[in-house]
Amino acid sequence: MKKIAAALIGIPLVAAALLIVVPARATSDDDTAALYNTKCKMCHGATAEKKMDKTKADDVLIQIVLDGKAAEKPPNMPAFKDKGLTADQAKALVGYMKSLK
Ligand code: HEC
Repeated sequence: MKKIAAALIGIPLVAAALLIVVPARATSDDDTAALYNTKCKMCHGATAEKKMDKTKADDVLIQIVLDGKAAEKPPNMPAFKDKGLTADQAKALVGYMKSLK
């Protein structure tokens, strides 16, 4: 009987854990949006319509976010890895920019 009781308690625990995991992902999407709004939007625009070719491969774009790129005339694309941005954040930002319309 004890085992059954433990299983019955276990199920809601797993369900509760899943509920905690799902909003945690939503928060990280919010973080990406906040990052974009504070660090990128002033140059790339509200829908990433400026200075960004959304048809380029993610890898290429992620590398530019990390390493920066000199434009034909200023402003240049800053190298955000020098500002503490991680590869995961760069990936999330590129995905976010591509999703903006
Ligand atoms: C000071 C202005 C400025 C800021 C701030 C800025 N960028 Fe850029 N970014 C540029 C310019 C200019 C280019 C284009 C360089 C070129 O190819 O001429 C560029 C290029 C890019 C590209 C490559 C686009 C392509 O088609 O090759 C990506 C991706 C990108 N930026 C993402 C970001 C992200 C993400 C942020 C914020 C973390 C950001 N940028 C912040 C100016 C900026």
